[in-house]
Amino acid sequence: MGEPTFQRVRGMHDILPAEAHRFYRVESAFREVAGLYGFSEVRVPLLEATRLFSRSIGDETDIVGKEMYSFTDAGGDELTLRPEGTAGAVRAYVQNSVGAQEPVTRWYYLGPMFRRERPQKGRYRQFYQAGAEVLGAPPPLVDAELVIMLADLFARVGLPESTVLYNHLGSGDTRAVFRERLVSYYSALSDRLCADCRRRLSTNPLRLLDCKVETCVVLKADAPAMRGCLSGQDLAMLGRYRDLIDGAGVASREEARLVRGLDYYTGIVFEVEVRTADGPVVVVGGGRYDDLVSRLGGPETPAAGFAIGLDRLVACLPEPSPPGLDLFVLVPSEQATGQAVKLMRKARARGIRTDLDPRGGSFKSQMKRANKLGASHVAILGERELLEGRVSLKNMASGEQAEVGLGDVLDRVLDGGGA
Ligand code: HAM
Repeated sequence: MGEPTFQRVRGMHDILPAEAHRFYRVESAFREVAGLYGFSEVRVPLLEATRLFSRSIGDETDIVGKEMYSFTDAGGDELTLRPEGTAGAVRAYVQNSVGAQEPVTRWYYLGPMFRRERPQKGRYRQFYQAGAEVLGAPPPLVDAELVIMLADLFARVGLPESTVLYNHLGSGDTRAVFRERLVSYYSALSDRLCADCRRRLSTNPLRLLDCKVETCVVLKADAPAMRGCLSGQDLAMLGRYRDLIDGAGVASREEARLVRGLDYYTGIVFEVEVRTADGPVVVVGGGRYDDLVSRLGGPETPAAGFAIGLDRLVACLPEPSPPGLDLFVLVPSEQATGQAVKLMRKARARGIRTDLDPRGGSFKSQMKRANKLGASHVAILGERELLEGRVSLKNMASGEQAEVGLGDVLDRVLDGGGA
């Protein structure tokens, strides 16, 4: 066999059923936990006006500058496949005047995002996020609640050790002072910076701390830290935030040089890091964005949120046991097919996962298939037994086999018995 004619688009990945099942488990747990914290689902379009992202995420970010899938449609509209969920959610919040109907809004969303990044392990051009946004609430209570909610989710899905890394980006004047300190530190080192960072020095100095180029990462270690510029008020806020998450038993660490890859953040920002055999993986990013609603045309509205990178989270989870099967129906002859279909339909109505081998085949090959599928019971629809209204039921764990009335098979399976 030669190369398949069609290949995936670079940076995209197929999620085959075993992995899709793990996504589903995390997504279900996320919906449940978010519901317990008062969040409701919002579904917004995958396509938005390109301007929405340049206005919210910022023109000088990597995302807007070089990673967006943007195009002009047949009507001349400039559109972009969403690279993240916050901008669209806030656009919907403003456009639907949600703030006028309720003082505090808690939304969550799930779905694909698109960024034309350089593909590598855990970094895709189409990836999946589960996000949460709280609009209308000041810090630091909801900021703390967001990471506590994440801790509850991680406990449910069995995510090994994770740490919340947080920082305060300062507000107003303090941010300006920090920016100046960064510029003076990095200007002295400009010949050692990558070309992008040399440009960032004049356009968006905070971004310098976010550069992933090795030579720039090295310089970050001695760069000024935000903490030195924070006002008393910001420091007090950060202290209250830390007390709340410490009190909830969430492992965390202040990371004084943490900045985020999007420009809308205003106060406390955070990431969640998971230690893996291949090194630390950032599975969540989030923070406060108190100016975004007004920047997109709405009233002044404090807000905060996060997004989980589902592809990365799923990859960090321990291998689950396969889904398995409760009942395999073995059909030795074609005459029994009708009975098999009826029995399986009744089984499914009672929540019993059931299957057969649609190819038919010998008794032996069907039994082999039942084993392969991990069936806990096998019902053998032998012709003679069926005439008497009976089937043979085998309990695969104990090996016991007995004839039971056709009407009793499903009760036996549900009981966990078989013989
Ligand atoms: P972000 O840090 O850009 O934040 O993305 C959040 C998470 O999505 C990352 O921590 C990572 O796990 C995952 N992620 C990002 N890019 C990729 C990629 N190319 N491949 C795989 N996973 C990826 C946001 O998107 C903000 N909207 C979060 C937020 C919500 N802030 C406030 N509200």
